[in-house]
Amino acid sequence: MISFTVMGSSVVSRLFFLVLVSMTSARDDGLARTPPMGWMAWERFRCETNCTDNPKNCISEELFRDMADRLSEDGWRELGYKYLIIDDCWMSTQRDKEGRLQPDPVRFPGGIPRLARYVHDRGLKLGIYADLGTHTCMGFPGTPLNKIQVDAQTFASWGVDYLKFDGCYSNAVEHMLGYPVMSEALNATGRPIVYSCSWPVYQGGLPPDINYTLLGEICHLWRNYVDIQDSWDSVEGIIDWFFNNQDDLQPAAGPGRWNDPDMLIIGNFGLSVDQARSQMALWAIMASPLIMSNDLRDLDPAMRAILQNKLVIAINQDPAGFQGRRLLKEKSGIQVFWRPLSHSYIALVFLSLRRDMPYRYSTCLSKLNISAGVYQVYDVFKSSTLPQINSTTDFTVTINPSGVVMWLIAPETQTRSEFRGQRSPIGGFTLF
Ligand SMILES: *[C@@H]1O[C@H](CO)[C@@H](O)[C@H](O)[C@H]1NC(C)=O
Ligand SMILES: *[C@@H]1O[C@H](CO)[C@@H](O)[C@H](O)[C@H]1NC(C)=O
Ligand SMILES: *[C@@H]1O[C@H](CO)[C@@H](O)[C@H](O)[C@H]1NC(C)=O
Ligand SMILES: *[C@@H]1O[C@H](CO)[C@@H](O)[C@H](O)[C@H]1NC(C)=O
Ligand SMILES: *[C@@H]1O[C@H](CO)[C@@H](O)[C@H](O)[C@H]1NC(C)=O
Repeated sequence: MISFTVMGSSVVSRLFFLVLVSMTSARDDGLARTPPMGWMAWERFRCETNCTDNPKNCISEELFRDMADRLSEDGWRELGYKYLIIDDCWMSTQRDKEGRLQPDPVRFPGGIPRLARYVHDRGLKLGIYADLGTHTCMGFPGTPLNKIQVDAQTFASWGVDYLKFDGCYSNAVEHMLGYPVMSEALNATGRPIVYSCSWPVYQGGLPPDINYTLLGEICHLWRNYVDIQDSWDSVEGIIDWFFNNQDDLQPAAGPGRWNDPDMLIIGNFGLSVDQARSQMALWAIMASPLIMSNDLRDLDPAMRAILQNKLVIAINQDPAGFQGRRLLKEKSGIQVFWRPLSHSYIALVFLSLRRDMPYRYSTCLSKLNISAGVYQVYDVFKSSTLPQINSTTDFTVTINPSGVVMWLIAPETQTRSEFRGQRSPIGGFTLF
């Protein structure tokens, strides 16, 4: 507690009081019942602040208006991509005279309220970024413990709907105090604000340093692991870490509380079409937030099709909110993933980490411990129905290097008696 000697004792005891209050109240406010979807600036636009030199790609009101236009006009909003999220580098280097955060006046000439109105007028929601600490990661004004209330009030008064609360320039004790206090402060504004906590990243992401029960009570989502970069190595490393630690991470997720393996980088420069499908498929298995960071003004059609695949989105957004698991890690480099869905449907992903050529992987459902009778199979990325199989039917899938085959399977009794030829409960399509 040495780090708090600078603060008046009344502030310290008030903080502890707020921590106790929030620890006893569950985050049952009805927000983020399915993983949040939207767009965030960071991975693609970083901290470009020079609008003279790079006017179309600098962190500015205009950039976010452009992305709001695209989200609302190009079919994204209807698919669920509705949070438009500002990341670091939006601020002025100083707080205002009243001690409130303020945006850079040149890059955000209308302030955040005007941008929020623009976003809300298009049926979207606005997210913003702050950092629990002396500075943001890029050196802009931070939100130390004694500024949490005022910053929460400021964001609510601006019409903000989502807060990413980063953790640079603060220590483990400040994290333990500050993340619950911000949760309580956001709640106290009376405005529904989705709360994304970067707390676990800074403490290794695993128990005992991280208490996922507590996180589920105070945050709607949390960043567990390192920032994603625009490469397959980065995506593969993230997949590996999340599934190596699935026994700790998987039970933490559910409606209103999600692990966040970071942004979708599909549509940038680092992933092939196969690798982009792999990211989308695994993010759906993990019930991860689907937050793109790309240039929606200039998107390759094949990448757009992956991001707009209605069935993979429906699997991601399944209302049961059960995070999937890795079932098998074969020596051949093939891995098999599974996510149970509503109405006894199941999503399966076969991933190849090979670097050579398409691999023919043979198995049967009973080897995956899926053994209830006869199944209908639908290939998610090929958009085609495959022949029925039962638990002992041997089948072979051909998986491209660093690619996936993704299946939605449904018990035949279910499809026949309730849904055959009707709109499926997963995604609302006629699949079988
Ligand atoms: C923007 O970039 C130009 C050209 O590189 C440079 O002359 C100018 O000083 C930069 N402006 C700011 C605000 O950094
Ligand atoms: C505040 O928390 C309570 C208890 O969890 C919840 O019922 C309420 O909806 C929350 N209000 C807001 C604005 O988040
Ligand atoms: C984790 O947090 C929960 C909820 O606040 C609490 O009940 C539990 O005791 C904590 N677990 C540990 C190991 O501290
Ligand atoms: C199937 O279940 C058995 C027995 O519980 C277990 O040993 C095996 O690892 C499981 N296999 C898979 C692929 O989950
Ligand atoms: C399962 O399907 C195979 C053909 O794929 C068939 O030979 C077998 O009889 C079926 N088993 C059952 C129990 O239906």
